[in-house]
Amino acid sequence: MSNPLPTIEAQNPIHFNEKGYEALNQHLATTKYSNIFIIVDSNTNEYCLPKFLPTLETDVTIEIIEFENGEINKNIETCVEIWNVLTELGADRKTLVINVGGGVVTDLGGFVASTFKRGIDFINVPTTLLSMVDASVGGKNGVDLGNLKNQIGVFNLPIMVIIDTDYLETLPQNEMRSGLAEMLKHGLIFDKNYWEQFINLKAIDFADFDALIYRSVEIKNEIVTLDPTEKNIRKSLNFGHTLGHAIESYFLENENKTTLLHGEAIAVGMILESHVAFNKGLLTLEEYKQIKSTIKAIFDDISFEERDIEPILELLIHDKKNEYGSIQFALIETIGKIKINQLVENELILQAFEDYKS
Ligand SMILES: NC(=O)c1ccc[n+]([C@@H]2O[C@H](COP(=O)([O-])OP(=O)(O)OC[C@H]3O[C@@H](n4cnc5c(N)ncnc54)[C@H](O)[C@@H]3O)[C@@H](O)[C@H]2O)c1
Repeated sequence: MSNPLPTIEAQNPIHFNEKGYEALNQHLATTKYSNIFIIVDSNTNEYCLPKFLPTLETDVTIEIIEFENGEINKNIETCVEIWNVLTELGADRKTLVINVGGGVVTDLGGFVASTFKRGIDFINVPTTLLSMVDASVGGKNGVDLGNLKNQIGVFNLPIMVIIDTDYLETLPQNEMRSGLAEMLKHGLIFDKNYWEQFINLKAIDFADFDALIYRSVEIKNEIVTLDPTEKNIRKSLNFGHTLGHAIESYFLENENKTTLLHGEAIAVGMILESHVAFNKGLLTLEEYKQIKSTIKAIFDDISFEERDIEPILELLIHDKKNEYGSIQFALIETIGKIKINQLVENELILQAFEDYKS
């Protein structure tokens, strides 16, 4: 990682770069753990663990728990397997879990730790762009229920997050793009200047990419600190996710569709929900066009057929943001500013799909 970045002093700190490993080792030196379990998936075991393990300075026994990579494994069955391994290998209330991986590992590992013996300490070490700027921060942990995203989960903060962008060196390009979607979202909902840096992606100085990651984490942290359990402003982070999650679920369950990465689904969701915002008199046409063209320049078009739309609308009913039976959207009022708890008629969603396809 190039530039030294200051720790974000959240309720539980977010450290960058070498400072993260220093803070972790200091924590290990001053807290008596019975043992440490590192949860990884098959890829982070291969690509990230060899870098992470040598940074640990501790005499405590370290065990590695690996599960097969992929969203398809972010389910309760994987949790049961891990809870069993923890039990068999002697984990107790003084065990520390360290999640080294993307959003699947941090979501699932955080949930496993938060529920094992009513909750043990865990630390997130995100290794994808998406988990650095979003999933590892803010204390949402959970798993999918069938094809329904994140239906089972808890709010619970890791005791610290360590973000080291060196892990991105082995991350495939499409996964980098996926993470970019959440960075774009942070700009769109909260910081117009930040968004504007992505309008001409070719002009981005990738030597400064760490600074862009840092700002994204700051935005996410600021929002979740104001509203940790999503009663209010935290709902703004759901921009693009109401339709995005429904699309992601639909593509996940449908054998005729290729599975979408989380960020790919959110990118479409952001275009669709921006169209809804424009139709509701919030965004101007110029703003909408700028959002659509910027996102379309980064992400491939997803093709929707007529028969796809109805089941996607049906999936919205399961969205966790629903309250009292109605579907709630977070819509952009103007770039950098968001309006939560917006009701949207189906007709506007259908029009948004029509425009996306055009
Ligand atoms: N908790 C939250 O607030 C929150 C927010 C956004 C997204 N999420 C969740 O995050 C998940 C998506 O996260 P993701 O995009 O990180 O997916 P992921 O964890 O599946 O990682 C993507 C792929 O990259 C591999 N990988 C990870 N790090 C690597 C590295 N350094 N080098 C090479 N390969 C690597 C993984 O094995 C996986 O195959 C979804 O389940 C989503 O629901 C959670």
